[in-house]
Amino acid sequence: MAGGQPWVVVALDVDSAARAEALAAELDPALCRVKVGKELFTRAGPDLVRRLQAKGFSVFLDLKFHDIPNTVAAVCRAAADLGVWMVNVHALGGGRMLEAAREAVAVYGSERPLLTAVTVLTSHQREDLVQVGLDHTPEALVDRLAHLALNSGMDGLVCSAREVEALRVAHGRDPVLVTPGIRPADAAADDQRRVVTPREARRLGSDYLVIGRPITGASSPRQALERIAASIG
Ligand code: C5P
Repeated sequence: MAGGQPWVVVALDVDSAARAEALAAELDPALCRVKVGKELFTRAGPDLVRRLQAKGFSVFLDLKFHDIPNTVAAVCRAAADLGVWMVNVHALGGGRMLEAAREAVAVYGSERPLLTAVTVLTSHQREDLVQVGLDHTPEALVDRLAHLALNSGMDGLVCSAREVEALRVAHGRDPVLVTPGIRPADAAADDQRRVVTPREARRLGSDYLVIGRPITGASSPRQALERIAASIG
């Protein structure tokens, strides 16, 4: 359940173990952690996670679990057995599912992964929520699900850096806030809409900054990471 530096989490959004390991070879575990998401995990599996960990990286397993409480508890135990640093669930799975996840990892004590919850996917607009019967604005639903997740014992939330200030006012300094949508001032926004620089995200109160393409797509991922790490101190 280690917190603290490094604050940068590099999203290894590639389609093979070989590509992920080639990227990792360019990165320094003293300067970053890594995120393994659904595509890479489905292609490369737990063995890749173990190899990344053996190279010194702490791994955020970004699989956004959302299922019945018993199943989510079981997969959270599997993630804890794998030794990942952080794992996440969907707050929309509800209070009983969140509590089952928390109880499942609690038995690992200080060795347990951090447990974070996704509130509303940033791809969802008001119409998408209404379509599935959730008659709320995304902002109101983020607020509601953030309360539910933190009251159910989650360590923190994955959220937009733009939501961080309001979440800090509502929930204080304790929750771990993990923010994607980060772009250095000189990088392309790609398909991200409302981007925030690494320095600004930290100033707003983000703990961990999930950064993919500005590092993984750079001609030198190593230099891109070093520049970003230096910019946040
Ligand atoms: O390349 P980029 O920096 O945009 O990568 C951001 C990473 O964060 C991707 O892995 C993406 O799936 C993830 N993410 C996101 N927005 C969210 C949640 C996760 O961009 N709301």
